[in-house]
Amino acid sequence: MKLEQIHIPVLLKEVLIYLNLKPGSVVFDGTLGGAGHTAEIFKAIAPTGKLIAVDHDSQAISTAARLFKDCQNIYFAKGNFADVKKIIKSFGIKNLDGFFLDIGLSSIQIDKSGRGFSYIRNEKLDMRMDEDNPLSAFIVVNEYDEEKLKEIFFKYGEEKYSSRIARNIVLFRKNKPVKTTGDLNEIIEKSIPLKEKFSKRGHPSKRIFQAIRIEVNKELENLEKAIDEGFEVLNKEGRMVIISYHSLEDRIVKNRFIQFTGKCTCPPGLPVCICGTKKLAEIITKKVVTPNKDELLNNRRAASAKLRAIEKL
Ligand SMILES: C[S@@+](CC[C@H](N)C(=O)[O-])C[C@H]1O[C@@H](n2cnc3c(N)ncnc32)[C@H](O)[C@@H]1O
Repeated sequence: MKLEQIHIPVLLKEVLIYLNLKPGSVVFDGTLGGAGHTAEIFKAIAPTGKLIAVDHDSQAISTAARLFKDCQNIYFAKGNFADVKKIIKSFGIKNLDGFFLDIGLSSIQIDKSGRGFSYIRNEKLDMRMDEDNPLSAFIVVNEYDEEKLKEIFFKYGEEKYSSRIARNIVLFRKNKPVKTTGDLNEIIEKSIPLKEKFSKRGHPSKRIFQAIRIEVNKELENLEKAIDEGFEVLNKEGRMVIISYHSLEDRIVKNRFIQFTGKCTCPPGLPVCICGTKKLAEIITKKVVTPNKDELLNNRRAASAKLRAIEKL
């Protein structure tokens, strides 16, 4: 099996350490992408381990299925990692020793999919990671009302010019639909003071594109469901390792992991605990793990990566 290194796997060494894999482990990799992590996880659990590799992008599945065609004990599924319980059941698997997510987009999707994930390229407004998703960026941008657009730009993009951008999208739509990423980028640039394009926070299109992508792919809801379902099917001493790329996702991972450790949620000042929260897991990354300088030199897309891991008790 030879892998084309179009997508460089992020924090690979750390992922393998924190997953604590052994030959025979059963692992769920919910974000196959270019199969960089998948290939190394597969080696670490061979020859008796089982690996379920999932992506909702059928291109990722078909490429990897070709690469691994001679390998046994690796099961591919086109699906949503949020449906982990249903997916593993379909392969006759009930429990996992490892659950791994490297969320977001692969470099292949950003650079080559033609689905309009980057504001730098002029492509059709699509942004669906799963081509069977009925909701696309075109629908969001052309059919959501001004209030709803403003809300998702604020909530998922944390963009201070959300109101102006939403208003200008609606004005543009009165004459013709917003068809391309180029159209959208132009509207955004016209809605902001020039200096914002060069501000430390980066180009506002980056945040607006992120917001639309999160909405189209229901990224935060899927992450929450995946963590809960994945944790439910983890074996005792099973590990959950998640890499995220922006603060909204990292916050979800961090808070959910803290809840699993049974942190008391009683109001302060009560003489005894009444919330009954149980300790179900141990956080094994006391501090969030980020790429070192060497990794960043080789892969600038790793810059925002944050890894967290827990072990089920
Ligand atoms: C950052 S890439 C993974 C790269 C991979 N770890 C590697 O080393 O090549 C993220 C992948 O997760 C997929 N993905 C994102 N959200 C998903 C979801 N809810 N269900 C299934 N796959 C998802 C994307 O389609 C993309 O291929």
